[in-house]
This record gives sequence, C-alpha cells and structure tokens, in this order.
Amino acid sequence: MTLGIDLVSPVGDKLDWECQELKAKFPRTKEDIPKVPKPQECLLLIDGEVVKSSQKPTNVQSPFVTQDHPDEHIVIGRFEMASEQQAMQALEAAERAYMYGRGVWAKMSMDERCKRMESFAADLERKTDDIAELLMWEIGKTAKDARSEVTRTVTYIRTAINEAKALVESESRWQEEKGIVCQIRHLPVGVVLASSPFNYPLNEAYTTFIPALLMGNSVIVRAPRNGATPHFPTLELFAKHFPRGTIQVLTGSGREIMGALVGTGRIDAVAFIGTASSAKGLLKGAPNPHRLRVMYEGEAKDAAILLPDADVSVAVDSCVSGMTSFNGQRCTAIKMIWVHQSQAEAFISQLANKIDSLVPGMPWDESVKITPLCEDTKPGYIRELITDALAKGAHIVNRTGGRCYRTLCTLSILAPVNKHMKVWSEEQFGPVTPVAIYSDLQEPIDWVSQSEYGLQCALFGYDEALLGRLVDALAYHVGRININAPDQRGPDVFPFTGRGNSALGILNATEALNFFSVPTMVAAKTDDERSVGALKALNGGDKCSVLFGAN
Ligand code: G3H
Repeated sequence: MTLGIDLVSPVGDKLDWECQELKAKFPRTKEDIPKVPKPQECLLLIDGEVVKSSQKPTNVQSPFVTQDHPDEHIVIGRFEMASEQQAMQALEAAERAYMYGRGVWAKMSMDERCKRMESFAADLERKTDDIAELLMWEIGKTAKDARSEVTRTVTYIRTAINEAKALVESESRWQEEKGIVCQIRHLPVGVVLASSPFNYPLNEAYTTFIPALLMGNSVIVRAPRNGATPHFPTLELFAKHFPRGTIQVLTGSGREIMGALVGTGRIDAVAFIGTASSAKGLLKGAPNPHRLRVMYEGEAKDAAILLPDADVSVAVDSCVSGMTSFNGQRCTAIKMIWVHQSQAEAFISQLANKIDSLVPGMPWDESVKITPLCEDTKPGYIRELITDALAKGAHIVNRTGGRCYRTLCTLSILAPVNKHMKVWSEEQFGPVTPVAIYSDLQEPIDWVSQSEYGLQCALFGYDEALLGRLVDALAYHVGRININAPDQRGPDVFPFTGRGNSALGILNATEALNFFSVPTMVAAKTDDERSVGALKALNGGDKCSVLFGAN
C-alpha cells in the first residue's frame, strides 16, 4: 500500500460461495418454516375486472431455499404475464375512463376524489399484515422493513390527499394581473403509466400513481417482476373504490408491456423508477417524445466522505445503516466510502467489526439484518465485483466478507479500491461496499463530480472550512447532502431528486400533484365588463365544473 496503511484480509481474500455456515441459516426442511403465505394467484386488473392473463403464468419464486433442497426455491404463487393485447385493453379502458377529461373520475370534484382515496387508504391499512408478509416473502425484506413499507405508503396517501386539498383551496380564487382576470386550475394530463422497482415495489409505485389519480388522471400500473405479489391483495380495493377503468394493474415483461404502451404515443405521462438503460430503451420507443411527461428515478452511487476530523463512531454507525439496510439494495444506500488516510485504519477496523456483528438469516427472525437476495443474478454479480477488485489490489477487510450460499451473501468490505476496478464506478445495488483512501480532498470531489450518478452524498466531519468546500463543490452534482447522517429519501414531504442518471423529476406528494397536472387558465380582459361578468357567473354554478368553487 502506498498510503502507509497495512491492510490485511482476515479471510485471506478468499471467496466461499458454498459457505456451510450460511447454508445452516436456511430452514432445514419446508416443515421448519414458520408460515408460508397461501399461494398467490397473480392476476391483472383491467377495466374494473380482476382477470387472468391470456399467456401462461410462471411461478413466483421466493429467495428462500431449504438445506435439504438448496436448488429449489420455495414458490409462493403464480405470476401472470400480461400479453401485449391485454396491455392495449388496459390502455383502451384507461382512455375510456378518462374520456378526454369528461370521464367520471376526471370530472369528479377534488373533495369527492379525496373521500374515495381516504376510504381506499383505510382499506389498504387493514391489509398491512397481508401485504407486508408478501413483501417479506417475495423480495426478502425483513419483517420490520416490510411492514414499514406498507405503513409509509398509507401515510404517503394521506399526505397526498391533504396536499391535493390544499392545492385546490389555494387556486379557488380570481387572480388579476396586467389587465387579465383569471382562475387557474390544475387539471389532469390524461393517461399515466407508472412502474416501480423491486426494492420498493409497493411504495414507489404509490408515490407516483396516487398523486396522478388524485389529480383526475387514469393510470396503468406495471408491477415489477420481483415484487408483484404485494399488489395482488390491492386489486379488489381498486375495483371497489375507483370508477371502472380509472386504474389498471398489469404484471409481466416490462419491455413488452411498457414498450408497447409507450410505443402507441397515447400515454401522456410516464413515471419510471428503475435502471437508466431500461428508461432509455423505453423512451426511445416514444413516437412523440416532446409530448411525453417523464418522471424518472434511477440508479445511484452515493458516497460517504470522511474528513480528517470525522467522528469515526458516528461515521461507522451511519455507513453501516446506509450499507446494510435491505442488503444495500436501495438507491440511497452508501455505495462508496472515501476516508482520509489519517482515519483509515481506525475507521476500517471499526466498520468491519460492526458489519461482522450483523446476523445473516431469514427475514422472519427479528435479530436478522442480512437476508437472501431476490434477484437471480445478484449473487453472481457481487462475486464478479469482488473477484475483479481483488485481482486489482483490493482486500476483503472484514472477517465475514466473501461468503455466500445460494441467495444469502454476507456484506463484503473492499479496501483500498482504485479507478481500475468495476466497483469503483458501477452501481452494485447489493452487499459489497468499496472503501477508497484519500490524502487530498480533491480526489473524492472529482469522483463525485465526474460520476454519471448524482443522488445524494453523506459528509462526516465538523471542520467548517472543509465542509463548506465540499458542500459548494458537490451541491451541483447531487440532490441532497447529509451532514454526519446517512442518505435517505425521507421524510417524504421533502423533495427527493437528483441529477444525471439518478433522477429526472421530484418524488414527493406536492411536486407529483403538479407534475401530473396542467395549470390551466380561464381568463378575460378586466376592461371587458361583459366578459368578466360571464366568466364570474360560471363560478360555483352547475354550468361549469372546472371553475367550481372559486371565491
Ligand atoms: O431505492 C430508492 C429509494 O427511493 C430509497 O428510499 O432512502 O427511504 O430507503 P429510502
């Protein structure tokens, strides 16, 4: 090592991808599993009807195996692959429901829409346990995190309702400026297509389509391949609370379904949360890209940067939570750590100890923090990143690093990393974290500035001059800078956004209500008394619903 730090790998930089200690964490037989959810019949919601796909369904595999049958994933249901034809039926249903803004839902007063949404939220809340169980079983979230995804979603819906009421309230008035009197109303854009990623399959879908619905749009929701089952218990609720065709839910191949829908040119807005390459592929197919509103939240490679005066224990605690929550499968996970050489030894050893103390196992066990990965290819990819980094001079610096058995992998800390390694720039989205050691603060500044991602950054230290220099340099590259705290999306009332491949659009209720609507003016000249009289006569009467309610 060139920085005077002698890093030794406690595992001799060896990988054990058949780790028997991890194998023992899986249930021995199916009988040892506390409670497998009843098999889910994965269905679709089109035009108010819960229907089957016209294509052959496939199994929904959980990330769990048993020690007796390590190559057989426990199946928790059937996944319906919506056909392209069904995607078109969904689009036609959404268009019929919207009817150029003359549909029942689009025309309904905000008050009435909010009442329907409140009843929906109450019903959804009653299903918290069922949905959380499916989240845990399908994507391997801990029981606690799975539950919090549902409760956070219910809270988000209620926040969005309040914000929507406030928006209508604020625009229920006449405005006058330079000889023009007008009223401005936020009206729906039309048909919205929303899709969510596997790590927040429920919550991140709702953060976009709920505001879209509240504004009077019709929506088509595409549930992700991993994380579709948590949507199934909600289909009957949508059918119960919203007019026919207002919301459709599809499962199946994103490329086929979403590609076909966007390719028609009849989708007015897309809310896509996923990878940059999928977003690029999808949007390339839009025949009229200039007419398509796009809200995108994508990849990230958030850095934690420790200044020379960082409090190591504060930084370690934040990094551990940022690295390990849902096994690092969050866009806001800490995916790169920069530590000043003066603190490197102390930091790496404390970080390694903390990470090594985390319990791997099954998510229904309350003490467990590291759980199986639901993406088939992820363990192989993590192994590839580690092997590549080891070959180029990094070490596995934690005792439990470099291990995996089928879907259960421990978290590996790699140090010191350099620009030749894949893990330096690729978003790992999983249990491996690189640590780079710097002597000149310009190194992490350059790394963040030149990255194609730009979500958040966590800075550790108290020196005002250095913090100021970092904030000034990095604020133009990321959407949020956290001081002595880990990165996170919440609280959900704040703008959640970023730059580059990380985001286009802002994910919170207020911004989303604006995004899925068009501020539409109805105006007259103030000196044209007759027209002003006619305009104001529309207000609050039964002749015109757009201007209804202004004072
Ligand atoms: O994966 C991306 C999420 O938006 C991160 O949200 O910070 O609340 O876990 P979170």
